[in-house]
Amino acid sequence: MSNADQVLKEIEEKAETEFLPIVGPERGKILAEEVRKAEPKRVLEVGTLIGYSAILMGRKLSKKARIITIENHADEAKAAEENIRRANISPKIQVITGDAVQVIPELRENFDFVFIDADKTQYFTYLRLAEDKLKKGTVIVADNAGMFARQMQDYLDYVRNSGKYTSRYVQVGDDGLEISIKL
Ligand SMILES: C[S@@+](CC[C@H](N)C(=O)[O-])C[C@H]1O[C@@H](n2cnc3c(N)ncnc32)[C@H](O)[C@@H]1O
Repeated sequence: MSNADQVLKEIEEKAETEFLPIVGPERGKILAEEVRKAEPKRVLEVGTLIGYSAILMGRKLSKKARIITIENHADEAKAAEENIRRANISPKIQVITGDAVQVIPELRENFDFVFIDADKTQYFTYLRLAEDKLKKGTVIVADNAGMFARQMQDYLDYVRNSGKYTSRYVQVGDDGLEISIKL
């Protein structure tokens, strides 16, 4: 078992005993497969928690790729940095501590993959703030699009109906992922 596998397993075990809203192995498998297919160079993640999904995506990326992940709780961001260090994967993962609503406009680079998994009522805000940094063909995966569909209705309406994206919902158990591609 690789270091990354070991860290992911530890976090999954921890999530069984404490409240830890990670994407988890089932939706995580679909997320990782989307990353593998897209071969992105720059990934933006909104909502790091303790680094589970960042490590999951990082494992599928080339050495040259980079992930920027944003977390507004300092303790979680610190734990994520430690887990990422222990996972020992080659792509560089930068954890930024702060509110994504403030951090995203300050980012100076473009992205070709986005994973949104923070405050469910703010998905639309995160996307609108990041939109001018997203290349054509960028894949955007939004977690909890089944259970929290009502809270993220503005986001779902936008990616499905604005004409700026093609979008599909993937059901996984009693929740799901909205996977959108920028046109
Ligand atoms: C569902 S958890 C993320 C789980 C993580 N993506 C995973 O699968 O391992 C959501 C995280 O988003 C963070 N968060 C919520 N609102 C935020 C915001 N406005 N900016 C940055 N992080 C935020 C929370 O503190 C929490 O750690």
